[in-house]
Amino acid sequence: MKSLVVYSSRTGNTRKIAEAVAEALPGCHLHPVEEAPLPEGYDLVAVGYWVDKGMPDDKAKKYMEQIKNCNVALFGTLGAWPDSEHAAHCKVQGEALLTDPAQGNKVLGTFLCQGRVDPAVVAMMQKMANSAHPMTEERRARLEEAAKHPDEEDCRKAREAFVDFARALGAE
Ligand SMILES: Cc1cc2nc3c(=O)[nH]c(=O)nc-3n(C[C@H](O)[C@H](O)[C@H](O)COP(=O)(O)O)c2cc1C
Repeated sequence: MKSLVVYSSRTGNTRKIAEAVAEALPGCHLHPVEEAPLPEGYDLVAVGYWVDKGMPDDKAKKYMEQIKNCNVALFGTLGAWPDSEHAAHCKVQGEALLTDPAQGNKVLGTFLCQGRVDPAVVAMMQKMANSAHPMTEERRARLEEAAKHPDEEDCRKAREAFVDFARALGAE
């Protein structure tokens, strides 16, 4: 199977998951989005993003706009709990960028896990008057947990998810 793994990563979290995904897809081509080839001629295209205000980040989004008539699977990292409503919403938002019938894509699914939130960004948000993200106990605990991710278990789960996506395609 000819696979392409493209990722966008600001601080390295999504890159780490991209490397795990690449391990699950032997012989795949792995590229940061800035150096990625066109998503053409592959049996499977995997795109990784970091969540920016509930959406895939802009670079990943732009790349996804070019994907037509492909089998696609997504992965990403975010600060929120991976089983939260917010994470579920982010998955839907990401997949919706690819599922217009006119695009002709088949979306196999999305793997999301937590990723450390840049402390400089957290500090900046705290300084903003009327911050939409006041530092509650819940938020502090979530950020503390996010700071430990992605960890080895996240990488294992990412590999597992992409082995399953590839198997589902192979079984068709
Ligand atoms: C500007 C900005 C916006 C973010 N927005 C969200 C968000 O809406 N939801 C969320 O759960 N995490 C959000 N995050 C956290 C990142 O998605 C998370 O830390 C991610 O793992 C960063 O990945 P990277 O290291 O690959 O850049 C945001 C981070 C930044 C810097």
